[in-house]
Amino acid sequence: MTVAEQTKSNKFEDFLKTRQGDDLFEKAMLVDEVLHSETYTGNEGLGMVSMDKLQGEYPIKEKSGEVHSVIMLGSNSYLNLSTNEEVVKAAREALDKFGYGMGVVSNYAGITELHNSLENKIAKFYGTESSIVFPSGYGANVGVISALCNEGDVIINDSANHASIFDGCRLSGADIKVFPHADMNGLERVLKRLPEETTGRLIITDGVFSMDGDIAKLDIITQLAKEYKCRVMVDDAHGIGIVGKTGKGAAEHHNVMNKIDLHVGMLSKSPGGLGGYCAASREIVQFLKLYARTYFFSTALPASLAGGLNKVFDLFLADNAGRTELWDKINYLKNKLLSKGFDIGHSQSAIIPVMIYDEEKLFKMHSELRKKGLYVNIVTYPAVRRKECRLRLCAMKDLTYAQIDRAVNILEETGRKYGVIK
Ligand SMILES: Cc1ncc(COP(=O)(O)O)c(C=O)c1O
Repeated sequence: MTVAEQTKSNKFEDFLKTRQGDDLFEKAMLVDEVLHSETYTGNEGLGMVSMDKLQGEYPIKEKSGEVHSVIMLGSNSYLNLSTNEEVVKAAREALDKFGYGMGVVSNYAGITELHNSLENKIAKFYGTESSIVFPSGYGANVGVISALCNEGDVIINDSANHASIFDGCRLSGADIKVFPHADMNGLERVLKRLPEETTGRLIITDGVFSMDGDIAKLDIITQLAKEYKCRVMVDDAHGIGIVGKTGKGAAEHHNVMNKIDLHVGMLSKSPGGLGGYCAASREIVQFLKLYARTYFFSTALPASLAGGLNKVFDLFLADNAGRTELWDKINYLKNKLLSKGFDIGHSQSAIIPVMIYDEEKLFKMHSELRKKGLYVNIVTYPAVRRKECRLRLCAMKDLTYAQIDRAVNILEETGRKYGVIK
């Protein structure tokens, strides 16, 4: 394909690999040409700059330099804990005491009492013996999976699991099996076909799925796991603090907290900070501290984050982080979208997909919504299949009902223009 032909493409996967005979960097030049052409790529709204701290409505700077206000329906800080005054105070105290970076990996004196206390609180939250905190959420998945699984083991994944889970699986060298999203018959079919000689077996699922907002069927998954002698790992990045009767996430929702072997989660979404964790038995946590390479070979989480997150887990342990108020906003937003005729899939959480099913419409709508003062996330390949492309809306506790009303009006006007309303 010539450069001219290639630059007509706006498809992510066309530029993944070096073409036969090309210099290694040629693909980056091609992407640059596409981004500077008239072609819509869906990247138009990426790289905006926040001009204030996260809240229901605040100014952003576009790549063009234009500054304007947007209603924010695109943040994973669902409970607004990233700006919570008590959390920020705790982070500031830790910052003043320990400085802004740890300077060394956790095992080489890179942790403080605040890190230890955070791990204890996370373990208490899940009712496990112990927990380990990683400096990145992505790294938590990659580290846990690649430490525990190896060649000869088998990992069984829901097809909608997060990219970091699949990356961890690939790095592990284990055999990777995939069942269609949320299809429990599909899972059982995979389990039935597993060769007898596989050693370790691990089923991995998101707790709340990051692009669909639905909750994994952990009641059935844990039953099947018992029957087919598998361990279970749940990445509840988007469930913690939100779903379940006291906010303990997807496993609590299904009343199977003690049937999950590895409770993985992220400190970057509703906790509002950064990092990831795995709550498990004492022996597993000890093993991970020695064998998870994203822990052993990566500098520890800054103490300021550990300080702020200690306060977050105090709030979570008391179920006092604003969950009820968030659910009022989730339900209000969902009902309004449904009443306008949008297809919002099967959300059971703060993540609400607005299905578009047509990439060209999606790209245009996303740009237009921003111009009209509404920020939502744009989701297509590689995050989901292209034909299932969508806008991804996140409810947030501090949004006012008036802001939600205005957001839905903007969406309705744009949705009608592009014919995506039933
Ligand atoms: C389900 C899930 N797991 C893991 C991650 C990675 O977490 P982090 O952004 O904290 O690295 C994300 C975030 O995108 C996620 O949605």
